[in-house]
Amino acid sequence: MNALETLLAAQPLTLGAAMELIIRQAEWQDEIIAHATALRQRHYGNKVYIRGLIEISSYCRKDCRYCGLRRSNDRASRYRLSRSDIYQQAKQGYELGIRTFVLQGGEDSYFSDERLEDIISTLKATYPEAAITLSLGERSAVSLKRLRLAGADRYLLRHETADESHYETLHPKPMTLRTRLDCLQTLKALGYQTGAGMMVGSPGQSVTTLAKDLLLLQSLSPEMVGIGPYIHAEDTPFGDAPDGDVDLTLYLLSLVRILLPRALIPATTALSTLDETARIRSLLSSANVLMPNLTPPMHRADYAIYADKKATNLESIEGLADLKDQLARHGLQLDMSRGDFKGSSNV
Ligand code: 5AD
Ligand code: SF4
Repeated sequence: MNALETLLAAQPLTLGAAMELIIRQAEWQDEIIAHATALRQRHYGNKVYIRGLIEISSYCRKDCRYCGLRRSNDRASRYRLSRSDIYQQAKQGYELGIRTFVLQGGEDSYFSDERLEDIISTLKATYPEAAITLSLGERSAVSLKRLRLAGADRYLLRHETADESHYETLHPKPMTLRTRLDCLQTLKALGYQTGAGMMVGSPGQSVTTLAKDLLLLQSLSPEMVGIGPYIHAEDTPFGDAPDGDVDLTLYLLSLVRILLPRALIPATTALSTLDETARIRSLLSSANVLMPNLTPPMHRADYAIYADKKATNLESIEGLADLKDQLARHGLQLDMSRGDFKGSSNV
């Protein structure tokens, strides 16, 4: 069997097969995308789940070389939302029908376990039927357990790359792939619906590192997978590096849909930032989640992880009605329910 036949027969990929899938993109992409589309349709129909994204802090103690919010970037604008800002944004989202709140931020020690427990349990008490997703970087097992007990349902933590030396290219010491993977395992063990993923075209990425990413996703089997193109970020060590490729991103999203048919996969803002049509193209094939921005408008521009981050109406909660119309024109249905992962395993 060649790698395409292996994939379509739902057989585990070897590193060689994963590499072959990436190398033969031009030849195989139409078939892969068609297959991904059929699987997405089978498991989720034409539904696109909506999450309200609240970017709670642009402070970060980490120094990832690709990210505009890295600690060493003294040109980044920093802000953090107060508890009442967060509640106010959640209320606005809830009234518009949002049933998943994503609290995302840099690794900001201001958001201690105590503060987060308070925020999470208050949101849960106010909106018991809403899901809470956290995207707050690496935290200790003790901390993750406390936040889970406070009511957090899901956690997004991209692995960024499954290759150790590539991980070190992207992240200075003391960050290690081991710590990241341990954190992901802890999240799964604590019963979080867990999201992993990577950027496409990050500096130092190769066919081999991408193939390792696919194998990692295959074995970890996360409930959610975030994949977006790398976009250069000013005032970072990789500020001059070229942006990632949109078609390769779309292809990888389809490969992941086939590997993990029930995964919840967002059409990322990074993808629409590079190509206006790519969001719809990804939703028509493999992706089934959108995360419009619920951050207070005055702070949106400050959450600048990369250059020219798209922030039009269609990326924002204010544009929900327009988004609904745009999706409907393409036969897609905006779905405001919690949109949990379906099933007990990802096969
Ligand atoms: N381009 C694209 N994505 C980025 N991220 C961070 N910096 C960039 C960038 N320059 C992604 C990382 C991180 C997520 C929050 O944003 O994958 O996990
Ligand atoms: Fe901080 Fe996340 Fe940016 Fe890394 S990617 S510097 S952890 S905000």
